[in-house]
Amino acid sequence: MCGITGYIGARQAAPILLEGLSKLEYRGYDSAGLALLNGSEMDVRKKKGRVSVLAQEVKKHFFDSHLGISHTRWATHGAVTDANAHPHVSSCGNFAMVHNGVIENYENIKSFLLTKGYTFRSQTDSEALVNLIAYHYYKLPENSENRFLESVRRALLHLEGTYGIAVICRMQPDEIIAARKGSPLIIGIGDSERMVSSDVLGFSGRARSVIYLDDGQIAKVTADSCEVVSANNELVPYVTNSVDWELDSAELGSFSTYMEKEIFEQPKVIENAIRGRISDDASTAVLNGLNMTPSEMRQIDRILFCACGTAWHACLVAENLIEKYTRIPVEVEYASEFRYRNAPLDKNTLAFVISQSGETIDTLEALRESRRKGFKTLAITNSVGSTIARESDGGLYQHAGREIGVASTKAFTSQITICILIALYIGRMRDLSFAQGKEIVGALKALPSAVEETLKLAPELKKLAGKYCKYHDFLFLGRLDEFPIALEGALKLKEISYIHAEGYPAAEMKHGPIALVSPECPTLIFANSGDIFNKVISNAQEIKARKGPLIIVTDSPDRFPEGLADDVVVIPKVHESVRPVVSTIPIQLLAYYIAQQLGCDVDKPRNLAKSVTVE
Ligand code: M6R
Repeated sequence: MCGITGYIGARQAAPILLEGLSKLEYRGYDSAGLALLNGSEMDVRKKKGRVSVLAQEVKKHFFDSHLGISHTRWATHGAVTDANAHPHVSSCGNFAMVHNGVIENYENIKSFLLTKGYTFRSQTDSEALVNLIAYHYYKLPENSENRFLESVRRALLHLEGTYGIAVICRMQPDEIIAARKGSPLIIGIGDSERMVSSDVLGFSGRARSVIYLDDGQIAKVTADSCEVVSANNELVPYVTNSVDWELDSAELGSFSTYMEKEIFEQPKVIENAIRGRISDDASTAVLNGLNMTPSEMRQIDRILFCACGTAWHACLVAENLIEKYTRIPVEVEYASEFRYRNAPLDKNTLAFVISQSGETIDTLEALRESRRKGFKTLAITNSVGSTIARESDGGLYQHAGREIGVASTKAFTSQITICILIALYIGRMRDLSFAQGKEIVGALKALPSAVEETLKLAPELKKLAGKYCKYHDFLFLGRLDEFPIALEGALKLKEISYIHAEGYPAAEMKHGPIALVSPECPTLIFANSGDIFNKVISNAQEIKARKGPLIIVTDSPDRFPEGLADDVVVIPKVHESVRPVVSTIPIQLLAYYIAQQLGCDVDKPRNLAKSVTVE
């Protein structure tokens, strides 16, 4: 969380920094700030609130500068105030720093610096680091080579925790020092200008190519050069990567929010997930990105999935599908638990992590732990060049286009689509016949138009949102493949509308949550064709008997008594393998329109950030 940008070059820095920050607001939006240099003059502006508030402040105080750093914050240590906003300035006033991450031993560092006469203005962990950099700078001889970079390097050696930082210094007005460990940091190369950002999006299309810093690396960035050293002060050769600009997907077009735009992009997104991944005979998937030969694949005895949030729900869908089509046992772990749990794993386990951003710290650490234990660990991610993509043993890109709305929508359905491909691919090496393979491929090919059809429910769901937005509690129930979708429905609703919601397996509801059922607590239940259709309808009856308002999402509206549900949402009938994708659309639309009716900021819900890069 938190977004960082830095600029050095011929142009005015402030507008470029602000534009970059606005693109990074998905990473946090509690406060924003920038620090500019002009020779030895430094100007620092920081404000509680969104980047637009900072932009107003900057407009009032023009400062001629071609070098600066900036930050949009998601608060970890210290309340949301102007003082706690970044950049933080050393007590001597000569250094300014922006930081993304958490410094775990900041209290020790601060106590030490207090004994040396340093003073502190904020409650943040970050301020300890900028003062520690100043401390090391003054300890180094005045004429020492690379004094600024070396002071940052020495300070970082004492740090426990994670960081992506950019630092400027009044005595070194032609360089930015950038470093990372655990939080992303990228250097953008333009024409006689260099930029620094947490994400390529922060370059606003200005970078021709980029350098991805690795953990522990420190870079000295000037307008026309970049020097990277390791934590041991060895010069590191780096590669530059070209940027695949997806700026079109950062534009809203005719939509009023990114979430709405991303929901409606799903037919295309699913097409992109499938493109080039179906065999010529249309009976299986072609997944070269997994970097595994068929014989290696056949040796797998167990599959592990790790992720967080919505991506974790995609893992649960994968568990059902893969177990059904391959008969290989699948385990799903919260990445945050897995990394500390020391779970016993069989030697022939194949591990997957799923992460839209490719930067979620818990998922990244789960990937690292799995690889440390010697397991082949593959990634499903939407972010080309992300840390997870770079550190995994292979995997599949989602190609969903950038997801900007904090609530994940198109990334989820695209992750599920990729999991269907994986289940098909491994299934065809095991239990699935040629005919079954062809059936699933047919279902996948028809999926974009089924989703398109389901999106036509939007006006109906908007109307339902008007009716249901007044409630304070909600239940989402589903069984088997749709249990994860019930969880996702509850997550979507609570994160963007702040309505309390719970997702449960429909039959499990009797073991506790049924106590919540009353005229004040509506339930949305999935009742789709399949072996347990009648069982789900019995669960729906149990809710009705307790006067709970009931919405049934179904592909078989004729198979239950009229009057059972207060509202029925009819989705297209599709093959069971792809149904979780289709079932997701109504819950996304309902959550979206409820949040909109309540006047919530759907793209930037309170307390959240798009990419959770702190523990
Ligand atoms: O980028 P990731 O897929 O790793 O993100 C995981 C979760 O943080 C994310 O899905 C989160 O739960 C979303 N806000 C859900 O809408």
